Amino acid sequence: MLCASIEPSPPLRGASSTQISVVMLCDTIMSERSNSKIICPREAITAKDIILTGDRPTGPLHLGHYIGSLRARVELQDVCKQYILIADMQALTDNADNPAKVRENVLEVMMDYLSVGISPEKSTIYLQSAIPETAELTMYYLNLVNVGRLSRNPTVKNEIKQRGFGEEVPAGFWTYPVNQAADVSQFKATIVPVGEDQVPILELTNDIVRTFNRLYKTSILRECRALTPSIGLLPGTDGSTKMSKSLGNAIYLSDPSNIVAKKVKSMYTDPKHIRVEDPGHIEGNTVFAYLDVFDPDTAEVARLKEHYQRGGLADGTVKARLIEVLESFLAPIRARRSEYAADPAEVKRLLKVGTERAREVVQRTLDEVRDALGIVRL
Ligand code: TRP
Repeated sequence: MLCASIEPSPPLRGASSTQISVVMLCDTIMSERSNSKIICPREAITAKDIILTGDRPTGPLHLGHYIGSLRARVELQDVCKQYILIADMQALTDNADNPAKVRENVLEVMMDYLSVGISPEKSTIYLQSAIPETAELTMYYLNLVNVGRLSRNPTVKNEIKQRGFGEEVPAGFWTYPVNQAADVSQFKATIVPVGEDQVPILELTNDIVRTFNRLYKTSILRECRALTPSIGLLPGTDGSTKMSKSLGNAIYLSDPSNIVAKKVKSMYTDPKHIRVEDPGHIEGNTVFAYLDVFDPDTAEVARLKEHYQRGGLADGTVKARLIEVLESFLAPIRARRSEYAADPAEVKRLLKVGTERAREVVQRTLDEVRDALGIVRL
């Protein structure tokens, strides 16, 4: 018998003793939930907070990543302690057949971080697989969550559907939220910047934290809150709601000028704006959506919008402006990137130093966890 996380648990009719203990664990989880407070407003973050966030290294990062998370990391590294993980073990949960893809993207993602201005001194950037204690913690946590709860996780359910796994879902993929709970709680992180889609994973994290603290009569683990992006998703160049690698509609931070120009020229605008004289629509017009986000001259953008709606402004003219705006945004990022790209050993060293710093913190937490659990020490 598996009980739901939101529905009331079924009666215990005919339950065996093991079933009863599963239900009891689940009941406690339900009563311990407090979802309403899981989202943290940006203004509430103080120097006392600890941030943990990261990315799966499955491809280069794009403008959507920048707007959705990288920009906030650059800002928050001056506010409080910040850990950033390159989640290569999590990336393997659905790429076991292609580990080279994960390996090749580790330093790429590190270079993306460094080139947008995430400082390896202010932030602690680390490689997930180089901290084996996280895998150990994951094993302890797997005992604190039941199978029914995992199968109902909306984030994973969606991802299983997107990837067409069906019954063939790798067990590692299915349980990755538990591994993510370990990523977060091993630093006693209080704030986790993530997209809306990841919030159920943080609810699970807090459930595990509460269950651990209650079962082992301790208070060593801390609950976290989500910091979700303040603006909506940056659309893809094709006008679809999300920029993503798999949709092939992304502009990468590492794209050279000619590729950026080509992508902007092919951008989705207003399909009804056929002749220059025709009045055009700015709602759902990707070029204007990007100008709103990237063009610092808001008065000029307002003027262009007005002209476009009135008629007489060509898509090509607006696109030419966007190309210029994106160039001035990307040029310094590209310049820093090429410096790092010329010295991969240094990039690796920076990741190693961050990983060592992170591992010390994780080892201290694991010592506390083993003590709380009463693991036999030899
Ligand atoms: N699941 C995140 C993603 O797909 C990556 C990630 C792994 C993460 N561990 C994390 C994010 C811990 C925040 C906190 O991008």
